[in-house]
Amino acid sequence: MDLALQEKVVIITGGASGIGRETARQMAREGARLIIADRDTDNIESVLEELRDLGGTAEAFKLDVRDYENCQQLAAFARTTFGAVHVLVASAGVMENSFFLDSKPDAWDPVIGINVLGLLNVNHAIAPIMVEQNSGSIINVASEVAKVGEKRMAVYAASKGAVVSFTKAFSLEMGRFNVRVNAICPAITMTPMTTAAFGGISEAERLTHPHYLAATKLYPLGRLGDPEDIAAMITFLASPQSSWTTGQAISVNGGFGRS
Ligand SMILES: NC(=O)c1ccc[n+]([C@@H]2O[C@H](COP(=O)([O-])OP(=O)(O)OC[C@H]3O[C@@H](n4cnc5c(N)ncnc54)[C@H](O)[C@@H]3O)[C@@H](O)[C@H]2O)c1
Repeated sequence: MDLALQEKVVIITGGASGIGRETARQMAREGARLIIADRDTDNIESVLEELRDLGGTAEAFKLDVRDYENCQQLAAFARTTFGAVHVLVASAGVMENSFFLDSKPDAWDPVIGINVLGLLNVNHAIAPIMVEQNSGSIINVASEVAKVGEKRMAVYAASKGAVVSFTKAFSLEMGRFNVRVNAICPAITMTPMTTAAFGGISEAERLTHPHYLAATKLYPLGRLGDPEDIAAMITFLASPQSSWTTGQAISVNGGFGRS
């Protein structure tokens, strides 16, 4: 299948790590022109170098999605650097893991501020470019917990539920401009966000780690997700090959909850 992403301009928030970074790798292999927008730019040079080696064009933009003006600056940077934006992947996010009644509003603020308000900021800044072009694909990274809930994740689930609802509603407004808006709902995926929850175990150790083995029992496919699993679906949603798909919240979950 030709994904037709050669030379396409792709912004990935949270692109310096985990799902965003792997998505950047897959799109670089397709020859995309990437803007990696992340608040963490410590290792950004090695991220960019890898993407260029894989066949993409890659630029970095230091972004805090909570800052609306900073998101507008990202849009201006994309216009100046590439003159277009064909794909937005909004992957920047944080997780909160505590029983709701034990948590305090201080802990809710970053989750709602980054996962919800930050995602709105980025969509609001970038979508007008797509409207002008009369084409584009937005992929908002939500979570399977938005659909099924999870203990110790009530606030995080609320934030991702908002991402799903926003995506469905916004897609209705954007269809007439030929801009597709979809959400993706991963179940547990082994990224820096989650490996800490498994005691920071290495890739080699994890297949025999008791926490990992207990978690995999919930997955008919017998394993947790890898960033590659999620990135592949995001890349498909970015591609014109999915041109009749919009307003969807697509689970990529190894069959989670159905065993
Ligand atoms: N890993 C999972 O199991 C899982 C499951 C479902 C959904 N998700 C979602 O996938 C997305 C990516 O998560 P990941 O697992 O790759 O995590 P990750 O921690 O590896 O990557 C998240 C990236 O977002 C960036 N980021 C955080 N706050 C930011 C901000 N304010 N502005 C700009 N960048 C910011 C971080 O610097 C980091 O590079 C998140 O939205 C997360 O909620 C992850």
